[in-house]
Amino acid sequence: QDTYCVLGNPVEHSRSPWIHARFAELTGQDLSYGRQRIELGQFAQDIAALQAAQCRGCNVTVPFKFEAAELAQHLSPRAQLAGAANVLSLRADGIHADNTDGIGLVKDIEHNANRPLAGQDVLLIGAGGAAAGVLGPLLDARPARLVVVNRTHAKALDLVARHQTLADRNGCQLEAPPIDQIKGDFAVVINATASSLSGAEVPVPASVLRPGSLALDMMYGPAAQGFLSWAAAHGSQGRDGLGMLVEQAAEAFEIWRGVRPPSAQVLAELRALL
Ligand code: ATR
Repeated sequence: QDTYCVLGNPVEHSRSPWIHARFAELTGQDLSYGRQRIELGQFAQDIAALQAAQCRGCNVTVPFKFEAAELAQHLSPRAQLAGAANVLSLRADGIHADNTDGIGLVKDIEHNANRPLAGQDVLLIGAGGAAAGVLGPLLDARPARLVVVNRTHAKALDLVARHQTLADRNGCQLEAPPIDQIKGDFAVVINATASSLSGAEVPVPASVLRPGSLALDMMYGPAAQGFLSWAAAHGSQGRDGLGMLVEQAAEAFEIWRGVRPPSAQVLAELRALL
């Protein structure tokens, strides 16, 4: 039986084992999927042990996504652009790294929330690892305008500079104004910061929302609550990161198994369970 696992720290509360077990059941794939906590500084060593144990692949979560990209011998273009990886395939010719966070987010917005991004105005809040992982695929969805803002302005400028060529190629106006100088409102507002985790205020004014905007926090559970309440209080449709979680997993499953799992069904089941 082929084995897979999710690696992180913490990893105890990860829903990935449940999601992948359900994908395997529904597609008739014979595999097992576990979880493994990695101590800081042990990532490379633990990956080597997994390779020796014939593990076929892993999902990588916080805080190892950057190390995962560095360790791999083969990087997909989107993992390279993000500088981070959440999917590793352990193959005979070495470690292949990919990043499915961004495509998972885009699929959740476009298919599950039914909001096509082409031609739309999109605001991305944050410029850390989570934001870096999704900016490329967001640009590939061809929004008319994509604005990135962050508490630390320099990081937003860096992130945007790295993606400028892609934005130009896709005919998208990509900007990184200072966070207190955002102009206009947006059809889709994405929170890729950890601000709700600490109970901090949403770091942008409510004027970024227009009636019926989609306001999505990449977190789920209690960590997303502050942002979702803010969205609801200003007449927007809130959405947590559970759909993105399931969709990034579906992309990983397809990379590993060559089979597309029924992600919308599994998302509905997971929501009912929580
Ligand atoms: P992750 O991998 O989850 O993105 P990260 O790389 O540490 O983690 O990035 C955290 C993001 O949340 C950053 O954009 C950070 O802003 P800074 O770059 O200014 O640090 C943002 N963030 C965290 N706490 C915040 C808060 N209280 N208000 C606004 N932004 C916050």
